[in-house]
Amino acid sequence: MRLNILSALVVSVTSASVLSNSHPRKDYNLRPFTLNLDSRVPRMLELVKNTQLPDAPEYPDLSLDAGVPLSTLQSLRTKWLTEFSWQKEQAAINKYSQFTAEIEGLTIHFVHQKSRATGAIPLILFHGWPGSFLEFLPLVKDLTSKAKTPAGKSVAFDVIIPNLPGYGPSTAPPANWTTADAARIINTLMTEVLGYRNYATHGADWGCSVAYHLYSSYSTTVRASQLVFLPFFPYTPDQLTDAGIALNELEQFEEGSFMEWYTSGQGYFQEQTTKESPNTIGLALYDNLIGQLAWIGEKFINWSDPRAGTDPSVLTHNEILAAVSLYYLTKSFNSAGFIYYQNQNGFATNYTKARTNAPLLFSSFKYNVAFWPPALVEKTGNLVAYNNHNFSGHFPSLNNPPAMIADLRQIADHWE
Ligand SMILES: *[C@@H]1O[C@H](CO)[C@@H](O)[C@H](O)[C@H]1NC(C)=O
Ligand SMILES: *[C@@H]1O[C@H](CO)[C@@H](O)[C@H](O)[C@H]1NC(C)=O
Ligand SMILES: *[C@@H]1O[C@H](CO)[C@@H](O)[C@H](O)[C@H]1NC(C)=O
Ligand SMILES: *[C@@H]1O[C@H](CO)[C@@H](O)[C@H](O)[C@H]1NC(C)=O
Repeated sequence: MRLNILSALVVSVTSASVLSNSHPRKDYNLRPFTLNLDSRVPRMLELVKNTQLPDAPEYPDLSLDAGVPLSTLQSLRTKWLTEFSWQKEQAAINKYSQFTAEIEGLTIHFVHQKSRATGAIPLILFHGWPGSFLEFLPLVKDLTSKAKTPAGKSVAFDVIIPNLPGYGPSTAPPANWTTADAARIINTLMTEVLGYRNYATHGADWGCSVAYHLYSSYSTTVRASQLVFLPFFPYTPDQLTDAGIALNELEQFEEGSFMEWYTSGQGYFQEQTTKESPNTIGLALYDNLIGQLAWIGEKFINWSDPRAGTDPSVLTHNEILAAVSLYYLTKSFNSAGFIYYQNQNGFATNYTKARTNAPLLFSSFKYNVAFWPPALVEKTGNLVAYNNHNFSGHFPSLNNPPAMIADLRQIADHWE
C-alpha cells in the first residue's frame, strides 16, 4: 500500500552476500532500499503554498498555553517554500545504507550502518512520536567510528535504526499492535535477519517502551540498554516526597517540566489515546500539511531546549520540516499517532524491576517533558550509569548529539 510509492532496489551482489551470511533460517526478503518519495512532492508543495492561514492572530495576546502561535506556522511555511528542499533531505538520507525486511507480514525499514572497527557493539536506536529514524542520523558517523570511553575502553557500534511499524516506509501494524509486539519482531530482525547474537538498545519517547521490553524480555540477546525515557509514569512531587526521594536544583527544574506536561501539556496524549479519537485527528490532517506542521511541529519546538538550533543542537526548522514531510509523504501521519491508542497502558504506574542482569544506562535532559530521578530508574533495572544534562529536552539526539554519543559510548564500559 505505502510501498508502491517507494522504490526498492533490485537485490544486488552485495546484498546477496549479506543474505547468505546473515539469515540462515528463513527468507525475510532482506533488500537494500533507497528512499524515493518524489511523486508526492508536488502535491505537498501545493498544499504548503495554498493552505490559507489568518492574516493576523485572532487573539494576539495568548501565551503558548493556547497552542502553536500563528507566527510560528507562518514562518515555518515561508521557510518551507523558500529554503527547504525535500530532494536535498532525501539525497542526504540515501547516503546511509538502508534496507527493508519482511517480518510477520510487516515491512520494516531500517538503516544498517556497520562500523569498520572489529568488536563493534550492535546498537539499535528506537524513536517515538512524533519522531522517526531521522532523529538519530546525526549520531551515526560518530557512533560507527572508533573512540575511547571516559574509562579508556575502545568503542564503536554497528548502528541499526528502524522506523517502527506505522512510521515512515515501515508498514502500518494491526490495530491491536503493542510495543511488546514491536519488540518481538525487532528481536527477530536483529538475531535472525541480521545475524547478531547480542546487541544493545536505546530508546526515546515510545521507543523507550520497545527498548525496555527488549531489555526485560529478551535478556539473553539484549545485553545493555541506554534510555532517555521510561515506560513508567513519573512521580509527582508529592509521590517523590512520600518515597523519600529528594531532588537537587537541576532535578527540581526537570520535575517542574514534568508537572507542566502533566497539568497542561497532555491534550495530544488524551486525543491520540482515547476512544475513536486517533482516527479523527489522523484523517482530519491526512492531506493537510499545515495541519500536520501545527500538530507535530509544535511538539518539536515546545519539547526542546529553548536554545534549540544553537550549538550543540542541530534541531532547526529544517529538521522539523523534514520530519513533517516524511510523515506526509509516506502517508504515515495517521498510523504513527495510533501508537498511543494501541498502548493504553504504555506507561505503567506500578514500577517493576526487569528480570535481567544486563546493564541499564539512563540520561536525563533539562527540558524533557518527563523526569525520573536515579532512585526511580533503579527500580526498573540494573542501573549502572545515570547522567543528567543541562542542555536539551525530549529529542536529545537532535538537541545534544555530543552528550548522546558520549552516553551511548558508556555502554562499552559495561559490555561483556
Ligand atoms: C512550551 O509551552 C509552555 C506553555 O504551555 C511554555 O511555558 C514554554 O515556554 C514552552 N517552551 C518552549 C521551549 O517553547
Ligand atoms: C490482533 O489482530 C489480528 C488481526 O489483525 C489477530 O490475528 C490477532 O489474533 C489479534 N491479537 C490479539 C492479541 O487480539
Ligand atoms: C505490581 O507488580 C507486581 C509484579 O508484577 C505485582 O506483584 C503487584 O501486585 C503489583 N502491584 C499493584 C499495586 O498493582
Ligand atoms: C552545564 O553542564 C556543563 C557540563 O555538562 C557545565 O560545564 C556547565 O557549567 C553547566 N551549566 C550550567 C548553567 O549549569
